Amino acid sequence: MTSIDYSEKIPNNVNLAGDRTLQRALEQWQPNFISWWKDMGPEGSQAFDVYLRTAVSVDPGGWAHFDYVKMPEYRWGIFMSPAQQDRQIQFGEHKGQPAWQEVPGEHRANLRRIIVTQGDTEPASVEQQRHLGLTAPSSYDLRNLFQVNVEEGRHLWAMVYLLQRYFGRDGREEAEALLGRRSGDQDNPRILGAFNERTPDWLAFFMFTYFTDRDGKFQLSALAESGFDPLARTTKFMLTEEAHHMFVGESGVSRVIQRTCAVMNQLKTDDPQKLRAAGVIDLETVQRYLNFHYSVTLDLFGADQSSNAAMFYSAGLKGRFEENKRSDDHQLKDASYKILGVDGGALVEREVPMLNALNEVLRDDFIKDSIGGVSRWNKVIEKAGIPFRLAVPHKAFNRQIGTFAGLKVSPDGRVVGQEEWQRNQSVWLPTAEDRAFVASLMGRVVEPGKFANWIAPPPMGINKQPIEFEYVRFN
Ligand SMILES: [Fe+2]
Ligand SMILES: [Fe+2]
Repeated sequence: MTSIDYSEKIPNNVNLAGDRTLQRALEQWQPNFISWWKDMGPEGSQAFDVYLRTAVSVDPGGWAHFDYVKMPEYRWGIFMSPAQQDRQIQFGEHKGQPAWQEVPGEHRANLRRIIVTQGDTEPASVEQQRHLGLTAPSSYDLRNLFQVNVEEGRHLWAMVYLLQRYFGRDGREEAEALLGRRSGDQDNPRILGAFNERTPDWLAFFMFTYFTDRDGKFQLSALAESGFDPLARTTKFMLTEEAHHMFVGESGVSRVIQRTCAVMNQLKTDDPQKLRAAGVIDLETVQRYLNFHYSVTLDLFGADQSSNAAMFYSAGLKGRFEENKRSDDHQLKDASYKILGVDGGALVEREVPMLNALNEVLRDDFIKDSIGGVSRWNKVIEKAGIPFRLAVPHKAFNRQIGTFAGLKVSPDGRVVGQEEWQRNQSVWLPTAEDRAFVASLMGRVVEPGKFANWIAPPPMGINKQPIEFEYVRFN
């Protein structure tokens, strides 16, 4: 066996070359990662040359280096945002103490669990999206899909680095287990529900990257506050990549809507059947997909009242989104928060201790952030002179986790009976027929500059390249 110089092969700013233990751990893990990528990464694409962004350093000039690369040869790097001198823990019981550079013994199990749960979502999404390349609507979109995929792979590396560097033998075992679970698998599924759903078509992909990658943004932002400094610095750098994933989602949905509106105006109709016959996705179906992805993503934030969330915060492991911008005492022992509950078949607000409601606090921040893009989508519809408007459903709609689990609530926030739910399910959530229709549109369009009929071209290309640039070369 020839030995690989991992410190050179893996771009990094964590001094890999100076850490023999870590190098040995990576030497064992890296070939398993590559064989996982070949099995579960983008299907049938291993030999393509893809115009990809690779991070080669963390400074603004270095993390967006573009070139053609075959994906199995992508240089998955390990990066941390620069250390902040004398950084202190900003919240919880250890507030004001120096941030930890090593794992505190008492928090070891919880930190490991937090890192494993985050790490598990990264390969999961690659697995969920692995068939999409076969039905890409353009070379531009295909490249964006692959960019998201390799970066989720890098996020896995980021979490595996933390496990192997800071958690010894259990860390190495967890790193292996991250390659063992499979999205949707009966026996060994991914940890979180939404990451076991399929991403069967490109509308689902765009909704996923808009909503579910945004959950990633909020989880990473909360971890970027962590008192465990290596976790804070690692997740901070991951956020720079997450922004592109959400851009792919927001612009993707926007282009779907733009194309549909153009055909609505051309044919002077809002009849979904006529629009479908013309090969575009009716806005009602877009709304149903939105309802589904939004509600499934809300569940990812966990139960609305959680003693774990309280403990993670008080212990200084996981903060709030933009902890530093908040003017309270950052300990929250006396603070309360309004959450929604159910009382006598109606939704009612009640005050609970804020520490226990921190999942809900983060979920509410996510909701505010999500609405922005939806109003930008509505601008596209408005500009086309069409009266239809998209909206996010009520937060109690279609929930499986927390107080609302199993409760039947309409998108406008009314608790409804079983009968009304049954009657409207096909209006509120994507039906098998919707999915079959969207699937029927998915053909492969990859000639540079050409786009599938159901989606408008983007206003500009990637990295200032023209739209008709050859983003993927097939070999
Ligand atoms: Fe990620
Ligand atoms: Fe992502």
